[in-house]
Amino acid sequence: MIFTGDKEVDFNDMRGYLKLLKDKGLLFDLDIELNVARETTELQALMRHLHNDDGPALMLNNLEGYNTKDIPVLFNPYGTRQRTAMILGKEDPLEAKLKHAEVLTDQSSWIKPKAIDPAKAPCKENKIEKNDINIAKQLPHVWFGKEGPSYITNAVVITKDPETGIPNTGCYRLTQLWNATHPNGEVYSDEEQRKCLSVFAFWNPPGNHIGLHWAKAQEMKKPLEIAIACVVDPVIQIAGATSIPFGLDEMDFAGGLRGEAVEVVNCETLDLQVPASSELVIEGRFLPNRDVTIGPHSNPIGYYDDTQVFPLIEVDCITHRSEPIWYATMEMMPPFDHNYMACLPIEGELLSDLQSKIPEVKDVVVTPNLSYFVQLSVDGAQKPHPEFGKYVLNAVWGASGRWGRTAKVVVVVGPDVNPYDLNEVEWAILTRVQPKSDTIINQSGQAFLMDPSANKDSSHGIALQSEQIGIDATIKVFERFDSYPEYSNSDPEDVAAIAKKLKGLF
Ligand SMILES: Cc1cc2nc3c(=O)[nH]c(=O)nc-3n(C[C@H](O)[C@H](O)[C@H](O)COP(=O)(O)O)c2cc1C
Repeated sequence: MIFTGDKEVDFNDMRGYLKLLKDKGLLFDLDIELNVARETTELQALMRHLHNDDGPALMLNNLEGYNTKDIPVLFNPYGTRQRTAMILGKEDPLEAKLKHAEVLTDQSSWIKPKAIDPAKAPCKENKIEKNDINIAKQLPHVWFGKEGPSYITNAVVITKDPETGIPNTGCYRLTQLWNATHPNGEVYSDEEQRKCLSVFAFWNPPGNHIGLHWAKAQEMKKPLEIAIACVVDPVIQIAGATSIPFGLDEMDFAGGLRGEAVEVVNCETLDLQVPASSELVIEGRFLPNRDVTIGPHSNPIGYYDDTQVFPLIEVDCITHRSEPIWYATMEMMPPFDHNYMACLPIEGELLSDLQSKIPEVKDVVVTPNLSYFVQLSVDGAQKPHPEFGKYVLNAVWGASGRWGRTAKVVVVVGPDVNPYDLNEVEWAILTRVQPKSDTIINQSGQAFLMDPSANKDSSHGIALQSEQIGIDATIKVFERFDSYPEYSNSDPEDVAAIAKKLKGLF
């Protein structure tokens, strides 16, 4: 294993990141018994409990109703903005986003992965051959809430464009079918339960790159191989969750974020490479013309989807580190653990895009519920032109990548409003906005497929189009006023000084 010494990212696998968390008192071992059997709710309740109070990461060592007792389950590693910033070697969320955006913008800083000898790759320490595959015994099964299947939510998934051969790395969820409830009351076949997975290849917003690969492969009548690298270096997961242009490889971007090449290793049965320090690697193939229906599925906006239909994958080989770690998480009403793992890349993508056109954009905060708050470095008379806030609102909807176009609620604020503090954003809306004059209602937005309030398109049966609202909460000098009342609040430094003076008194 290579450690980078004085580099900002001083680990190259999940174990290194966990050491960092532990050293800082942000990760604890939990030895009390928790039940993770199908249709149990203890982990969902644990997630809510932890997120009511920015709780720590946990290593769950004593799970009941669990098929792989010797594999501990990591829980809530990314549960705060501070912890996701630490993945990029920062403590401050804005610094982490700016680093992400800077590397994303400057493709000359990206570094190609380096292939290493399989004998030196930790993920090859143990191998399970095709004939011995039995997912029921070899992949941890952790159930949450009322979900039908047990999910794999910890992986980056690697496929190659069947036309160009260029690899793509994306962070997509998968489901296992062993012991899963079928949403229509059917039963998954023995072969599906023991050897198959399904992958969220057509998800929301549409146009993920694995879905494009699969569509191309079907059109060209070519096979499509898939490598699923579980519990990887979190830097690679951030890169995999970033929407970079189709045809570029997220592994190169991950190298740029790390400041050195990601070490990869050839798969056993596929023409693909995976991060060498992954905890566990699943190698497989898409099965032509085989879909599978799964559900219920607890989605990231906090509702159950009854059913989803996804392509079926057959597993050909599993390799794993000795004493592997599993990481399990779920989606539910936000906030939840990997919200911040998802939000940081979206924020970085938007910062990269907006700042290249609008230097006055200082920060973009995407909340776990997916509201978008844009903070400017100027306000009032310093704005480059009247109605500048509305120009920024439109730029968010027109931004490149997968997400800006789906922003249902966007608020633009000035530099004196803390975009991480909902109370301050609300204050700005109430004291700087006239609801008709300072908002834009966009009736032609792209829907979040799962938004239950968006109209379902009659021919597709799903929501494709959504209404969106943009709120310009900047100060309307000179749009309506020559001056604005002086802002009354105490200086954050004075607040810190008083807190210090009162420390321990009550
Ligand atoms: C934990 C996590 C799970 C995700 N699950 C999915 C998913 O199942 N399907 C999907 O399309 N996007 C999912 N995303 C978002 C994608 O990772 C993200 O949009 C990424 O840019 C997709 O890669 P691509 O642009 O190469 O398709 C997830 C993100 C995170 C952080």
